[in-house]
Amino acid sequence: MRRDPGPLLRYRGPQEMVQQDTRNRIGVGFLAASFAFLVGAIIYAQFSEEKPRADPGDAAQVARGKPVYARHCAACHGAGLQGQPDWREKLPTGRMPAPPHDASGHTWHHPDAVLFGITRQGLVPGRYAPPNYQSDMPAFGGTLSDDEIWAVLAFIKSSWPEKIRRAQADITRDSLRR
Ligand code: HEC
Repeated sequence: MRRDPGPLLRYRGPQEMVQQDTRNRIGVGFLAASFAFLVGAIIYAQFSEEKPRADPGDAAQVARGKPVYARHCAACHGAGLQGQPDWREKLPTGRMPAPPHDASGHTWHHPDAVLFGITRQGLVPGRYAPPNYQSDMPAFGGTLSDDEIWAVLAFIKSSWPEKIRRAQADITRDSLRR
């Protein structure tokens, strides 16, 4: 074991000083890189929170979704998004009627990824519904592009009051954290 000779006798030769300088520079570089990364991560997080894939505040996307809704969804979910009459009661077939998509239904209880999945694949048993569940909700994956699905969801969201929009955005954010 080497003993520290004390402050007066400690000697740093030029070689050691150069090494120290390089180490400091690497340290500062590393710090700057970490800082840049942190700032980037914060900006990214804010950006992705503020720009959902289906954005009711995006007038162009809502306008794209409106005719998609009228053509592919309105027959069952209602032209005014009001759902089928007595939508909480089973039909004689044992299946459920189409629920409203406006704020009176439970569409807004689901995060974006679930709404997208149900529209694209239907109420897949074991995934979006109990095992062996039978449903009249068609799968639109073969009919609509992903872009059209996000647009129709943006249109649906645009019918919700601000409070409901925010609640559903929170549900979406929570589902992403898990
Ligand atoms: C042929 C009738 C029909 C059409 C057309 C239809 N749906 Fe549905 N949809 C249903 C039914 C019925 C349900 C409820 C299913 C159940 O509970 O079994 C449903 C449920 C849903 C749900 C789940 C809602 C919730 O609160 O859980 C979403 C989302 C949905 N539909 C979106 C759409 C979209 C978007 C379109 C148009 C692109 C569409 N549907 C077109 C019949 C339809």
